[in-house]
Amino acid sequence: MSSNRREFIKKVGFGTTAVTMGISSCKAESTEKKSSLGKSTIISTWNNQGANQEAWKKLQESGSILDAIEAGIHVPENDPNDTSVGYGGRPDRMGNVTLDACIMDSLGNAGSVCFMKGYKNPISIARQVMEKTPHVILSGAGAERFASDNGFERINLLTENSEKAWKEWLLESNYSPQINAERHDTIGMIGLDSKGNLAGGCSTSGLAFKMEGRVGDSPIIGAGLFVDNEVGAATATGLGELVLKTLGTFLVVEFMRNGLSPQEACKKAVKRISTKYDTSSSQVGFIALSKSGDYGAYAIQKGFQYVVNTSPQTELFDAKSIND
Ligand code: GLY
Repeated sequence: MSSNRREFIKKVGFGTTAVTMGISSCKAESTEKKSSLGKSTIISTWNNQGANQEAWKKLQESGSILDAIEAGIHVPENDPNDTSVGYGGRPDRMGNVTLDACIMDSLGNAGSVCFMKGYKNPISIARQVMEKTPHVILSGAGAERFASDNGFERINLLTENSEKAWKEWLLESNYSPQINAERHDTIGMIGLDSKGNLAGGCSTSGLAFKMEGRVGDSPIIGAGLFVDNEVGAATATGLGELVLKTLGTFLVVEFMRNGLSPQEACKKAVKRISTKYDTSSSQVGFIALSKSGDYGAYAIQKGFQYVVNTSPQTELFDAKSIND
């Protein structure tokens, strides 16, 4: 049995509870699966089954992979219990929830917002930046004004739970990003439609209790997300500083352009990071999808998961890591 097959751990029915499958029952499975050309595929970081299912539904309704990505990412953005994306995200050290997101379409257009307060769907605001402005990134007060001018509702993003966690953190006041603290999850989602078009999006509240003004990889094209419709797409999760310093997803897509499979490309990018920097207490994970529908993932540390739909059924995988 290939090591890739060992990664396959669960299959989850559309709208049903999880069913754990034995290793022996999935001998034909592999995370480096080839989807036949013309078959839609949606992949997300972490156990974002609800997001994938919503994206899949939207793709069937609208046929647009960009609409699907936006709709899927709304799920964790709207979930107050998801503490690292959108509403309910952990605040910075000043007690403000500040959000980062970006989106990219099959034509190479891109939009992004960062250090934005008071709006729970940054992925949609990023899409409007892409579609309605000549710019790629709007930040802070400018992003907020743009959101307001375009009819987005201003809300308080700090939930009672997040405020409590922040107050507890203030008492301890020690800032140290934890491995897999993003388990519930910066969402990166990439997808391919039946016409062979790729798109992707990424959304996060960033590191809990970060310094005021800190922006991570998630809203930066080529770091948290990159889509090249001739080659493939990749998105990242984990410690954004490491992904920023290596333009991680651009690197993954370039490795695919040079002939590596999505999983090999993710592995090579992870190795680049871990060779150059001390990653002993940091996590970075990549997922990637090729133009022909192959997909794969790789992480620095154990514990990174991702979900895949090539049908209404969502599959949950453990990514391989350099520490396996
Ligand atoms: N990867 C998300 C962040 O570092 O903000």
